[in-house]
Amino acid sequence: MPPISLTGIKPTGAPHIGNYFGMYKPALALTQKYLGLYFVADLHALTTTPDRHELQTLIYEVAASWLALGLDPEESVFFRQSDVKEIPELSWILACLTPKGLLNRAHAYKAALDKNQELGRDLDFDVNAGLFYYPVLMAADILLYNSDVVPVGLDQKQHIEIARDIAENFNRTYGQTLKLPEGIIAEDVQSVPGTDGRKMSKSYGNTIAIFSSEKELRKQVMRIVTDSRTPEEPKDPDTCNLYQIYRLFAAPDRLGEVRQLYLEGGLAYGALKQELFETILTYFGPARQKYSDLINDLPYLNSVLAEGAEKARAIGQPVINKIRRAIGLDA
Ligand code: ADP
Ligand code: TRP
Repeated sequence: MPPISLTGIKPTGAPHIGNYFGMYKPALALTQKYLGLYFVADLHALTTTPDRHELQTLIYEVAASWLALGLDPEESVFFRQSDVKEIPELSWILACLTPKGLLNRAHAYKAALDKNQELGRDLDFDVNAGLFYYPVLMAADILLYNSDVVPVGLDQKQHIEIARDIAENFNRTYGQTLKLPEGIIAEDVQSVPGTDGRKMSKSYGNTIAIFSSEKELRKQVMRIVTDSRTPEEPKDPDTCNLYQIYRLFAAPDRLGEVRQLYLEGGLAYGALKQELFETILTYFGPARQKYSDLINDLPYLNSVLAEGAEKARAIGQPVINKIRRAIGLDA
């Protein structure tokens, strides 16, 4: 079997250009050398207790986005996390090998506590155990298939380190059983900024969504925050949010020209936003067309996901059997 590349994305909002440059694009490029396992992380989405209809819609949207952006379900393994019943079993086994202190230090959990502290609330206010346990579930996702590499954006780096720590604990306790995964972080686009300058994230409402309607897409681009410099004034491209997003799409020649305009003066933010909007439309044109076909064909999406789940389980089963044997659950 070729080495395995695995990654997932939560169905918690419409996929955005941060997801694309940080994860989809580098992950899909790996299928040259790796067998790609790509999934919709619907169990992870439950930590936010989503509305059931919204969750269902988002699962299909995220599934359609994978395929529209180039995933070939014949050559890769494409599935939904909750179809793989071995995952919750493995995550419980791993939880029992995870020092609680390791999870106390996880960024998302710590951020929730810090926010409560800042607001003078009980530290555990609105923090469910699922949020605390999140990195263990993610470790199960990775370790079940003996994954070699895990392409993710920078914000997920700690989760991969935690998965490695858990695997090491397992191997130390029960003998060499689990493979330690390597994270692959896209160097040049470690974190795509959102329209407000913070990291682009579904949870901040600052995204440019790849498959939104033209009208909505334009609105999102126009929302990009800039300073109040006039067109004539020179500007610093490296600290400008708009430039940092624009550079992801622009052809090198045009990017050079725009950079010059920033430095020398002569650039109107409004005009660059309009150009960015048009460039994004062209860039994602074929993917947007494919997406709109797929999202109207739920039976097709269901059948692709069901086949993918079978393939994923077939890869995971020998691994979980080995784990059961290692810990004495095979009697
Ligand atoms: P979000 O933060 O919008 O909820 P997810 O947590 O679902 O996104 O992330 C899915 C993948 O996309 C992860 O690998 C994550 O690291 C990557 N990613 C998310 N936001 C960005 C960003 N702004 N820049 C680069 N990569 C990102
Ligand atoms: N936690 C990841 C995110 O928020 C999604 C995810 C779940 C994942 N399981 C994974 C990513 C396993 C890589 C490997 O983006």
